[in-house]
Amino acid sequence: MNKKDILVTGGLGFIGSHTAVSLHEAGYRPILLDNLSNSELSVLEGIEKITGVAPVFFKGDVNDPSVLNGIFEQFHILAVIHFAAYKAVGESVEKPLEYYHNNVGGMINLLKVMKKQGVSNMVFSSSCTVYGEPEVIPVTENEPVKDATSPYGASKQMCETILKDVHWCHTQCLRYFNPVGAHESGFIGELPIGIPNNLVPYITQTAAGIREKLTVHGNDYPTADGTCIRDYIHVMDLADAHVAALSRLLESKEESYFETFNLGTGNGSSVMEVVEAFEKATGIKIPTTIGPRRAGDVVRVWADTTKVNRILQWKTKRNLQAMMADAWRWQLGLDKSKIKLGS
Ligand code: NAD
Ligand code: UD1
Repeated sequence: MNKKDILVTGGLGFIGSHTAVSLHEAGYRPILLDNLSNSELSVLEGIEKITGVAPVFFKGDVNDPSVLNGIFEQFHILAVIHFAAYKAVGESVEKPLEYYHNNVGGMINLLKVMKKQGVSNMVFSSSCTVYGEPEVIPVTENEPVKDATSPYGASKQMCETILKDVHWCHTQCLRYFNPVGAHESGFIGELPIGIPNNLVPYITQTAAGIREKLTVHGNDYPTADGTCIRDYIHVMDLADAHVAALSRLLESKEESYFETFNLGTGNGSSVMEVVEAFEKATGIKIPTTIGPRRAGDVVRVWADTTKVNRILQWKTKRNLQAMMADAWRWQLGLDKSKIKLGS
């Protein structure tokens, strides 16, 4: 019963559920909070199948102080990993107030309760979207933050600014590149709602016959094969980085502490390279067609991981083919009735 308790908001989501597994393996007890706005209770079974332990879970909202106070009073929480947010870029343009309320308002509420309860350690989910189209590639943490192109991106920038200003809160601010894949077991993964916007769920749904073909959004970019380049990172590597960030945070003795890390592999892959990696990993051919460029896409971005490799002593272990194989295993195990197909 001497486990170190960590509150994981958004703990049933894609990255939260995988991080819960890594926390368990590292000897922590994740206390999961989620309002199920973008996840399902069945995720708890998946986590239990992997860890052998039924996770502690609260259905509730980070905007609700009473739920948060209840958790902090019941458990000795050492730190909060704050995943809970809305994340669909396009939707954020349609519903900016909902995004600012949930992503920025939710974090402010959480911080107020943490202050009242004397909890001062936070790991925050940020995004490489804060860099926009970077001047220098690979992009370091010192790259200036660009004007956001969506309320989603702006909400992440605002949260970063707030966390910098809130000096009593010791923060690890993690900027994720493109998280993909699933736990190797196939018991947990990503549950995209409607027609996937993101590349890898679109590929796996095409392979499964749910989508007819993949439309490549433009092949006339100034890259080797004309398609955009991203830094895809396996979600379990990302999850392990949270454990590394947490131990540094818990060891920190400084009064005021805010640190930013890029979480990527340090390698860029084009859209066509991702498709090829999927085909190699699974033996399944993906029908593709070339469409126009997608508004708002940056041409290329990948991480300089020097800082995170050195300071957190963490680096990625899984390659693009492993990401594809694991994403496919998850897709194969998905109960088709759970896939919300969209129109
Ligand atoms: P996700 O939608 O799968 O998980 C988020 C979880 O938070 C969901 O289970 C949802 O139900 C829950 N949630 C949302 N609002 C809540 C609230 N007010 N109270 C309680 N629970 C709430 O998303 P994810 O991919 O796991 O992303 C996790 C975090 O990482 C988010 O903050 C996201 O912005 C950030 N991020 C994600 C990516 C990505 O590509 N997945 C990239 C960069 C940053
Ligand atoms: C997008 C978001 C980013 C968010 C991330 C994870 C934008 C501009 N950026 O990143 O903020 O953190 O999702 O949720 O929306 N592609 C195709 N065909 C498809 C789907 C994608 O060619 O059907 C291409 C895209 O044009 C892009 C690449 O695949 O070049 C990766 O796209 P995606 O998976 O959506 O991620 P990002 O756009 O990098």
